[in-house]
Amino acid sequence: MFVFAQQPSLANQYVAELRDVTLQKDRLRFRRNLERLGELMAYEISKEMPYQTVDVKTPLGIASTELLRQQPVLATILRAGLPFHQGFANYFDGAENAFAGAYRGYSAGDDEAFEIAMDYIVAPDLSGKTLILCDPMLATGKSLEKVYHALLRYGIPAQTHIAAILASPEGIRHVQRQLPQCRLWLGAIDDHLNDHFYIVPGLGDAGDLAFGPKV
Ligand code: URA
Repeated sequence: MFVFAQQPSLANQYVAELRDVTLQKDRLRFRRNLERLGELMAYEISKEMPYQTVDVKTPLGIASTELLRQQPVLATILRAGLPFHQGFANYFDGAENAFAGAYRGYSAGDDEAFEIAMDYIVAPDLSGKTLILCDPMLATGKSLEKVYHALLRYGIPAQTHIAAILASPEGIRHVQRQLPQCRLWLGAIDDHLNDHFYIVPGLGDAGDLAFGPKV
């Protein structure tokens, strides 16, 4: 598990801005900070992907360099995942992409229990590829688990990275237990989940802050 907050870096500034109730009023800045963290995480994850030596012809000769053997598949969950995913796509500019629509489906009469409902998924062939599944908030880990298993219908990836900006200890435990084959990349680890399964201190509802409230 790699946690950006455990070392001093610019990532901590972007996470702090995402949390700040005053700065959150600026939706454009909020989305751009999600995107910037996607960019930083893409760069870190790129260090653990397979490379091959390639000769590049310059006007003056040949430069031998190590380049990615294959672009990854970037998967995310609508809608809060979109700006974060864009950051990964800015850096892995030849990547293929997968999208899933998953949300908390509350059961009638018990507003604190929920199952993850998934009504949309689209993905390329994943066989033998590097899959990066990004979702800014790792709260319970249930949506990541559900989407990961749904993605396996498109082939078994060679390696899977799960990237989140804020994570709860409960969510981390869930992912480590249910998806031990996935490597975790986190911006910061927070204290706990509240009764509504929101991360505390967290930042609030990432989807609403990025795109506006829903009905
Ligand atoms: N999703 C959010 O947007 N925020 C949380 O704290 C948990 C899940």
